[in-house]
Order: sequence, then C-alpha cells, then structure tokens
Amino acid sequence: MSKYIFVAGGAGYIGSHMILYLLEKGFEPIVYDNLSEGHREAVLGGIFIEGDLSDSEKLKSIFSSYQISTVMHFAASCYVGESVLNPRKYYKNNVFNTINLLNNMLDFNIDKFIFSSTCATYGNPLEIPITENHPQNPINPYGNTKLVIEKVLIDYSKAYNLKSISLRYFNAAGADFKARIGENHNPETHLIPNVIDAALGIKDNLKIFGNDYKTPDGTCIRDYIHVLDLAQAHFLAYKKLEEGYKTSFYNLGNGKGYSNKEIVNSVEKILGKKINFEYAPRREGDPPILIGSSEKAFKELGWKPEYYQIDKIVESAINWQIKLRGL
Ligand SMILES: NC(=O)c1ccc[n+]([C@@H]2O[C@H](COP(=O)([O-])OP(=O)(O)OC[C@H]3O[C@@H](n4cnc5c(N)ncnc54)[C@H](O)[C@@H]3O)[C@@H](O)[C@H]2O)c1
Repeated sequence: MSKYIFVAGGAGYIGSHMILYLLEKGFEPIVYDNLSEGHREAVLGGIFIEGDLSDSEKLKSIFSSYQISTVMHFAASCYVGESVLNPRKYYKNNVFNTINLLNNMLDFNIDKFIFSSTCATYGNPLEIPITENHPQNPINPYGNTKLVIEKVLIDYSKAYNLKSISLRYFNAAGADFKARIGENHNPETHLIPNVIDAALGIKDNLKIFGNDYKTPDGTCIRDYIHVLDLAQAHFLAYKKLEEGYKTSFYNLGNGKGYSNKEIVNSVEKILGKKINFEYAPRREGDPPILIGSSEKAFKELGWKPEYYQIDKIVESAINWQIKLRGL
C-alpha cells in the first residue's frame, strides 16, 4: 500500500497549491488545517481533516489510522508586523505547535519532514544574492520562530534520525493557471495582490513604501517565486527524502529581483490600466534588496523553476483575483 503525505496548512495559499500539485501527480494527500487563515474551498481534493496542530489526540488518531511517509508543514502564523506586536502568538503557533507535531511524528515513527522556512531567517542581507551560507540573524519574531524550528530539526535529525528538508522561500506569488485557487489572505500584506486590487478598483489607497532606496528606480527590490514552482521543489524534496537523503536546507527564489515599481508597471501593462498609488515613507526593517541564490536547490534537488518571468507570475495572480472578487 502506498503511504500518505500529510500536509499541515494545506488549506492556505501555498499549501493548497501543493495539494493541487500532488493531486495532479496522482497522490491522495491528507490535508490538515484549522481554517484560521485557510479556506476549505481551496482544497481541491485529498482527505480533508479540520484540526489544530496543538491537538495531540487528533494527530495521534490520524497517525494511527493512516500510514504516513512524509509530513509537509505549511501551517504557521505568517504576518511579520503582527509577530512584533504579539510574539506570544507566534512562539505558540510556529514553535510550540510545530514541536508538538514533530513529537507526535516521532511517536508514530514518521521520519520525513519538509518545512516551510523563509528568507526572513537571514535578517538584513550582508551580500546579494543571499546563499545558504549567509548568517541567519532574523530581525523579527516571525523569522526567529522559523529559525528555532530549523535548529530543532537539526537536533532531531541527529538524535532521532528524523530526516528533514527546510525550504527557505523568498516571496511566494502567483496562482494556479486555471484560476481555481490563489492567494486569499485577510489582511493581505503582500505587494502583488494589493497592486492588483488597486488596479481593479477594490483598494483605493495603495502605498509604496520608500522611493529613496539605492536601487535603479528608488523602490525596494524583492525576489518573487511562483507558488507552483514552490510546489515542484517540495515534490523534489519529498522524492529525495524517500531516496534516503540527509537533512538539509535550501533557498527557493527566482534569483532575479523586481522593484516595487516594476510590479506596478507589470500589472498596469497586463490590465492596460493606470494605477493610482502614493509613495509613503520607508518601513522600518525593509532592506533595499532581497534576492536569493537557489543554486544549491538547482544542483542538489534538480529544481528548475518554470514560471520565472514576472509577467507570467503577475498574470496568473490577476486572473485569480478577478475571479475571487467576482469581476
Ligand atoms: N507566503 C510567502 O511568501 C511565504 C514566504 C516564506 C515562507 N512562508 C511560509 O510558508 C507557509 C505557508 O504560507 P502561506 O502564505 O500559504 O500562509 P497561509 O496563512 O495562507 O497558510 C497557512 C495555513 O495554515 C493554517 N494554520 C495555521 N496555524 C495552524 C494550526 N495551529 N493548526 C492547523 N492549521 C493551521 C491556516 O489556517 C492556513 O490555512 C508558512 O509557514 C509561511 O511561514 C510563506
């Protein structure tokens, strides 16, 4: 009997695309989500179980009912600003609840784990592009919680032989090309959906934070990676762990940066509309440029992002958002 992949946070933005990817590969994943941020209708198949990561009884019952080979862990609280104001929530959900999940896995001899980490574990970049050798000095509680778990995973690997791959994403973006699912956060803090909402007339006070950075057009530059390319990387990581690969960690980025203004230009070009926005002062803790090197994932995982052109990423997000807003 083939074993199941258990996807925590599979009703969220990235997790739901992972589920779609697995369904298209012929898998029947188990989706576990408390729907605090995710959406039931975003889960297009598999076995959906509503539950919280803190609920050991529920996890034990699932782990004893299904043969699970690998856990993919997308569930977390993910708002950087909120993590500064309410770190307690972040340490509880991202650290305590993740350790609870890991400990339950150990009890049921589930020994493969893929972790959604983040470029926020690096903090302010000392050099660009950021490689995995860059020091990890997060500058907010969200980044701290992710780094703690990366360290837990190294210790658990040594002590309990729990094999894991931590994937440090840069900015996830885009949507399913058939617009069945996409990004649907509330509040939405990510730039691309906010620019699209401004273009669609849903949002009327779009702000671009800072236009006096030392970048070609003065606005911040970020590395956007299509959500289905992230799913592909998880799938390759799953395969590697199945082959007996050792505990490891990888950046997942496009390797190319786009400025905030270039994102506005891309949306304007695709929709053929002028977008109203204003420049606001820089936000504290926003580095001018964040670009990752994913050479290690290319070489070791065989990862090859397919949807690296920014217009392709933005177009998929636009098509989804038009549907989401009922336009
Ligand atoms: N979106 C990005 O650009 C980005 C970048 C780097 C890292 N990440 C990481 O990727 C992961 C997924 O991000 P996302 O944008 O899809 O977030 P999301 O909020 O859309 O998805 C997270 C999902 O986890 C669920 N969840 C949260 N806490 C839970 C709990 N205690 N028990 C059960 N379910 C719970 C939520 O309901 C939601 O469906 C997160 O771990 C995030 O930190 C995201």
